[in-house]
Amino acid sequence: MSHSKGEMLYEGKAKRLYRTDDPDLLIMEYKDDLTAFDATKRGTSLGKGAINNAVSALLMGRLNDMHVETSFLNLIDANHSLVRNVKIVPIEVIIRFEAHGSLCRRYGIEPGLVCDPPLYEICYKNDDLHDPFITDQIAVLMGLATYDELAKIKYMALTIGHTLREIYLGQGIKLLDFKLEFGRYQPAGESEARIILADEITPDTCRLVDAQTGEKLDKDLFRFDMGDLGEGYRKLLDKLQASAG
Ligand SMILES: Nc1ncnc2c1ncn2[C@@H]1O[C@H](COP(=O)(O)OP(=O)(O)O)[C@@H](O)[C@H]1O
Ligand SMILES: [Mg+2]
Repeated sequence: MSHSKGEMLYEGKAKRLYRTDDPDLLIMEYKDDLTAFDATKRGTSLGKGAINNAVSALLMGRLNDMHVETSFLNLIDANHSLVRNVKIVPIEVIIRFEAHGSLCRRYGIEPGLVCDPPLYEICYKNDDLHDPFITDQIAVLMGLATYDELAKIKYMALTIGHTLREIYLGQGIKLLDFKLEFGRYQPAGESEARIILADEITPDTCRLVDAQTGEKLDKDLFRFDMGDLGEGYRKLLDKLQASAG
């Protein structure tokens, strides 16, 4: 079954979404562009989009196999994947195994503090407001989601966190934290929408370090000019592909 690229629905910082001939399906295109610090820092890295497409496909594919439903359906080519068309819940979900980044800035926590059990955090996805930290109560008050949906999202996010942590550890990589987005998927003919994992799981949205050497393998390479981003991302994909056998 092949679907051709229709009208562009949305262009974001890292991806473009296109309609297909099926209203339930979209084509996701991964760009080589990078942004950080609320898009105040911008750049591009040749080949980054293709690596992210492959990483997300591999990880979401694993989750689908475990019956954790994601928007990913199949790879189309280097930079494109076929995905389920969801209504995004405007919440960014963050799971942390160690304290880094905004958590440390916000509360003055020493970077590297271990979060055991993993920390679950939600933010309102709104660039103008700089994605502020919110609670379930605030999310419901704002009509972003229901308590039932939030419970489902939390359960799925923690399950996904555990799974990703194990996959990466198996390859000698430590997952320190990551961000997820969820959506409501209601295919034609179904009476109710269900919450599924959407968007991406890539080194743009995770903090990852080599467990042995501490070498960074994620977007911090770009954020803090810490080294060759393409090289770090490529190393990560190679290790994941090795784990897939
Ligand atoms: N399966 C999907 N269906 C519909 N929208 C999606 C899906 N996956 C991701 N999105 C949305 O598409 C956009 C992806 O582009 P991206 O470049 O990441 O945007 P942003 O600049 O908002 O981070 C995001 O707004 C994301 O919420
Ligand atoms: Mg994004």
